[in-house]
Amino acid sequence: MKIQFSEEKLKEVNELIAHYPEGKQKSALIPLLHIAQGEFGGWLDVPVMDYVAGLLQILPIEVYEVATFYSMFNTKPVGKHVLEVCRTGPCMLNGSDQIIDYIKEKLGISEGETTPDGLFTLKPAECLGACGYAPMMQLGKTYREHLTKEKIDKLIAEVRGANN
Ligand code: FES
Repeated sequence: MKIQFSEEKLKEVNELIAHYPEGKQKSALIPLLHIAQGEFGGWLDVPVMDYVAGLLQILPIEVYEVATFYSMFNTKPVGKHVLEVCRTGPCMLNGSDQIIDYIKEKLGISEGETTPDGLFTLKPAECLGACGYAPMMQLGKTYREHLTKEKIDKLIAEVRGANN
């Protein structure tokens, strides 16, 4: 498969790159990776990262460094819904370990794995900046807060219902 943004996306990308002065295009890397991840199946395969490097006229290694550093980027295939459960201090003290264990048991997967139906990936994360709502997780563009087993049940049922 040829890796290429649609004409419409490419326009968006070029506008983004144009925000930065000549020679500083690399500054658009993070937003570009978000767009690429959204466009190419929710993760950044090496050819996708190479494509982004080409658009920004930087070395592929500069893209790999950023993509592998930030947990918001996936460098392996993921399910349609990524459950990013925070497990840093405040969330841990409020039961994130039990929430993670519950999700593992309920979905039959381990950390970093995806359910066979491709719906869910469990991806423990570090502090997501919502410590006051611990324990919490990120799901797509939303935060799910004060997590309980009941809330996990409801969330999983909702997602499964919407995908039937
Ligand atoms: Fe979980 Fe900060 S510790 S959001």
